[in-house]
Amino acid sequence: MEIEVLRIGQRLVRDDRVTTHVALVARAFGAKKIFMSEINPEIGETIYKVNETWGGDFEIEFIDNWKMIVKNKKKQDFKIVHLSMYGEKINKIQTDISSENKILIVVGAEKVPREIYELADYNVGVGSQPHSEISALAILLDRIQNGAQFDLIFQKAKRRIIPSKTGKNVVMEETRD
Ligand SMILES: C[S@@+](CC[C@H](N)C(=O)[O-])C[C@H]1O[C@@H](n2cnc3c(N)ncnc32)[C@H](O)[C@@H]1O
Repeated sequence: MEIEVLRIGQRLVRDDRVTTHVALVARAFGAKKIFMSEINPEIGETIYKVNETWGGDFEIEFIDNWKMIVKNKKKQDFKIVHLSMYGEKINKIQTDISSENKILIVVGAEKVPREIYELADYNVGVGSQPHSEISALAILLDRIQNGAQFDLIFQKAKRRIIPSKTGKNVVMEETRD
């Protein structure tokens, strides 16, 4: 499944740490790309440094107009999956979402524009209590991939972790293209 993420909505106070964590979860849990409107180049630098060390080619695109991204993705046959505490229960619709080929997952910041509920193919609630876009994204990505995201190989990594019972076992890769 091809997965991309879009973060929309405005925070009263910009929270770069949350935004960075949304991007880190998207990358580590198998999405290809994130679109976001919080234009702080440091977020991009952090994520590209993570790519450099730990591999993969996860992308960030800073955007002005989230609606245009949603409309373009719809034209490219992506299904729009909007995470919202008001949405349908994840337990009920996770199988339908898993069977899609291409999805754009939309997460909000503080204020979510009303139109996204109509533009979405799925409005998904990870429970009906307010929590966080980081947790909602991680749980959705895990449910729709059944854990397969943790077997992904991130290409061209400089370092690789060998999971171990005790201590840290990190292999330094010698060759990079
Ligand atoms: C801090 S919440 C803001 C909620 C906001 N008041 C609203 O209008 O939805 C930020 C984002 O986290 C995600 N989120 C929070 N709780 C969720 C839940 N129970 N299920 C799905 N997504 C959730 C949504 O994407 C939401 O836009």
